[in-house]
Amino acid sequence: MSLVFVTRRLPGGDVERLRAAGHQVDVWEDAAPPSAEALASRARDADALLCTLVDTVGPTLLDACPRLRVVANYGVGYDNVDVAAANARGISVSNTPDVLTDATADLAFALLLAAARRLPQTAEDVKQGRWGTWEPGGFLGHDVAGTTLGIVGAGRIGDAVARRAAGFDMEVLRTTSRGGTPLPELLERSDYVSLHVPLTPQTRNLIDADALKRMKPNAILVNTARGGVIDTDALIEALHAGTIAGAALDVTEPEPLPADHPLLSAPNVLVVPHIGSATTRTRARMTEIAVDNVLAGLAGDPLPQAVSPR
Ligand code: DGY
Repeated sequence: MSLVFVTRRLPGGDVERLRAAGHQVDVWEDAAPPSAEALASRARDADALLCTLVDTVGPTLLDACPRLRVVANYGVGYDNVDVAAANARGISVSNTPDVLTDATADLAFALLLAAARRLPQTAEDVKQGRWGTWEPGGFLGHDVAGTTLGIVGAGRIGDAVARRAAGFDMEVLRTTSRGGTPLPELLERSDYVSLHVPLTPQTRNLIDADALKRMKPNAILVNTARGGVIDTDALIEALHAGTIAGAALDVTEPEPLPADHPLLSAPNVLVVPHIGSATTRTRARMTEIAVDNVLAGLAGDPLPQAVSPR
């Protein structure tokens, strides 16, 4: 019998399949994730680890878990896992691609629209009784239809965002690591910029002060990728200076932001709590895929969604 440590309660019923296959399953029951120490202690005798993007899986943890054969990361991004270090110790790593593509693309578009049309601010004005009457010049936002969207990243979520943009008659520019529109040109021409790159040493702070300066003053920056792709301090400065018109962020650095973080009081910023994949069906599908990978790894089979070091 193998031991699987699952670092959070997961939606859907698929964790039961681990038990049905005869494995012992230890689930971290708290709403808050385990600390690094708690993770190391609970995973110490585990053969498989089913973890989330808030768990850091690096050499220290891997060395503390000598039996580990599989790390199934609950998410498509796996910047929290040192895949090279895992593979070097004979441990396979998987993620949960595809099933969250549409949910994340929907959220990117929802953020784009919400920021363009100032939905949070205007809804709050209504709620607080600040809306007196309809005004020709009141609550003006930005057009979306017929404008230009810059998508940064070559992956499936970027493709899905491009499909949604087609329905809004947007011109789509695309920057990928292999080509497309060069990033400086994309930033200079886009009315909306949506980020869909993994967080790697190459993409950390990709959107820095220089990149922000290239953007149009009417531009809105959307991030559903990873917070570290944007230089947070530079973004705060750009929002205060009016270098760009706004930012709509599902992910931030740090994450979560403390309530008194200056990004939250910057003008025209909309921050939601990393909900890109947060639909009932998507999160259940992610559980199913992560469990499939654990079962495969414990059976000695290749992981269906194995990932390689970036
Ligand atoms: C992922 O899968 O990487 C997402 O960020 C989780 O919603």
